Amino acid sequence: MSEKPDRYAVFGNPIGHSRSPDIHSQFAAQTGQSLIYTAELIELDQFAKAVTAFADNGGKGLNITVPFKQEAWQLATERSSRAERAGAVNTLVINNGLLGDNTDGVGLVRDLVDNHNININHQHILIVGAGGAVRGVIEPILELKPAELVIANRTVEKAFQLAKDFSDLGNISGCSLEALEGHSFDIVINGTSASLQNELPPLPDTLFNENACAYDLMYSASTTLFMEWAKQNGAVHVYDGLGMLVEQAAESFRLWRGVMPETRPVIQSIRESLV
Ligand code: ATR
Repeated sequence: MSEKPDRYAVFGNPIGHSRSPDIHSQFAAQTGQSLIYTAELIELDQFAKAVTAFADNGGKGLNITVPFKQEAWQLATERSSRAERAGAVNTLVINNGLLGDNTDGVGLVRDLVDNHNININHQHILIVGAGGAVRGVIEPILELKPAELVIANRTVEKAFQLAKDFSDLGNISGCSLEALEGHSFDIVINGTSASLQNELPPLPDTLFNENACAYDLMYSASTTLFMEWAKQNGAVHVYDGLGMLVEQAAESFRLWRGVMPETRPVIQSIRESLV
């Protein structure tokens, strides 16, 4: 008799549009791993209970998405250093305890560097936004030693705080959106949730250096509002965050299964399935 496949899931609220089950099923098929991966809608006050129940029933690992990443950080019995600093956990490895990791930043960096051939080293980089999503990606960017990393945010205190929290890792500073006037960058990353309301953060139209790259952490079937704006204002390489989504999933898969899946065919397949 064959053994039961290992169980994995993504916990979030909402969860209906999650691509993770599709992504991990493709990784499993590609690498010959036997596993089941489901998307679970978790009530807002039931997160800790749901994780415990999943672990008690033999579950091997979880991805955690909005709004539970901070709670997962607290629940983890052990944390990787990148998760420790990010203050958020998107991957739990269940063994005797709960190992919390954060693969979002590695996912972004791999998408930029490996998939899009964008160089980070010595570049001038701007991240717009200073919420949870941005906190998760700062450390892996600074590891590649950009010339500078500027965090600009509508609520400027949050940008200052983030810059302070990571200041020992490289050249990072915080500023308001207004203070961006007159400055330009090689890579501009939109880490705000403005696109969810179909809004754009108010940015000067002179942000892009020659041959600059614009990257939206969000993704959608069509180009996002930020991507459109970036194209109109001089960005040459313009990407959404779908590659990051697949890359962060691949890193979770590697942590759980010890094997790194190929991401490109999966990115292509998920892209084709977006409507
Ligand atoms: P996430 O987990 O996605 O990062 P978050 O922690 O709520 O979500 O952070 C959302 C980020 O988007 C914040 O930086 C927020 O700016 P404030 O800190 O000033 O709230 C930013 N944001 C959201 N809507 C925005 C808008 N219309 N214009 C500019 N920034 C916006």
